[in-house]
Amino acid sequence: MNTGGKKRIAVIPGDGIGKEVIPEAVKVLKAAAGGRHVTLTDFDWGADRYLRDGTTLPADAVEMFRRDFDAILLGAMGDPRVPSNQHAADILLGLRFKLDLYVNARPCVLFDKKYTPLKDRSEKDVNFIVFRENTEGLYVGMGGFFRKGTAEEIATQEDVNTRRGVERIIRYAFEYARQRKLTRVCMSDKSNALTYGHDLWQRVFKQVRTEYPEIEARHQYIDNLLLQMVRDPSQFQVIVTCNLFGDIASDVGAGLAGGLGLAPSGNIHPGQVSLFEPVHGSAPNIAGKNIANPMGAILAAGMMFEYFGWTAEAKAIENAVRAALREGKVPAELAGSLRTPEIGDFIANTISRGGAAA
Ligand code: NAD
Ligand code: IPM
Ligand code: MN
Repeated sequence: MNTGGKKRIAVIPGDGIGKEVIPEAVKVLKAAAGGRHVTLTDFDWGADRYLRDGTTLPADAVEMFRRDFDAILLGAMGDPRVPSNQHAADILLGLRFKLDLYVNARPCVLFDKKYTPLKDRSEKDVNFIVFRENTEGLYVGMGGFFRKGTAEEIATQEDVNTRRGVERIIRYAFEYARQRKLTRVCMSDKSNALTYGHDLWQRVFKQVRTEYPEIEARHQYIDNLLLQMVRDPSQFQVIVTCNLFGDIASDVGAGLAGGLGLAPSGNIHPGQVSLFEPVHGSAPNIAGKNIANPMGAILAAGMMFEYFGWTAEAKAIENAVRAALREGKVPAELAGSLRTPEIGDFIANTISRGGAAA
């Protein structure tokens, strides 16, 4: 994967506001890379291309990414003209599954207390990360219709949980906590109702946690977890959960940390080509207006640099976003008036000037 210090990045803006936020993330990424050698290669995959010629994820894409790239930066997939969401399933879920990106890391960190919707909460209260299992669960696409369209229709959707899959994400969460000297890991499931699939989560969690005696290992059912996140998010440092629950919990966490437009994520297989993207989608309701918040995409580029081991550069990106928030250089989502490119410019310039002191 590593070709000296050089990093090869594939860029897939995708649909809707993906096409507005990714150019800003690229701007910032270039400013932060400084003297480091990065190459950027654009891919026009998304709804336009799909509607034009049917392309979703080309047959050789997975092999190409493994061979020719170190990381992928993606905007969002989803377009009202493609109600089946076929291209998103093929491209986004396809890459997560076929590249075996089993860790979906979604930090929920409040950078500035004025942006949380919670009363009397500050930065120290919202500082956790959700690890979402990213390669199985209800997302595997197993199921089908029987007697479709009739009054007797049956639709099934299988929830696939493997011991190997559950164990590796739970272990990753504990390792992450141990490496950062964090003291709390919370596993969330719905084992009171899903008595087979999530019973496996229970048993694996109880087994793995014995290897981390210094870490307080808690469990919460997903319904209560979401309540507790809103009631008192300071309880949480590391949350680990299944694919669907992680999807939901990370939107809630993004809301607590200021907004969906601020939230980054990494789809990671340690040591292999990995994919970084904002948590949000293509936001058709605001697409084309250049008012989207690019900070989630920008912070996703920061997570990519962190993944490369470029810690100082990643920190520079984070600090420049913090500066933009502090100085009110924010979009409509955060009750500001700056347009998407103006925010990207501010953050890139802050980095170039070296003025992003913490
Ligand atoms: P969404 O995340 O696109 O939008 C939800 C709400 O948040 C909307 O009100 C939107 O305007 C707002 N929002 C999102 N990102 C924002 C930003 N950067 N700045 C300001 N406001 C922002 O979710 P949705 O509306 O449920 O889905 C729209 C489409 O996106 C669907 O096709 C969905 O499947 C897809 N989607 C894709 C991804 C992805 O590619 N990773 C993630 C989520 C949704
Ligand atoms: C996300 C999105 C996707 C998901 C959709 C677009 C399939 O909501 O990345 O959070 O559910 O994983
Ligand atoms: Mn989601």
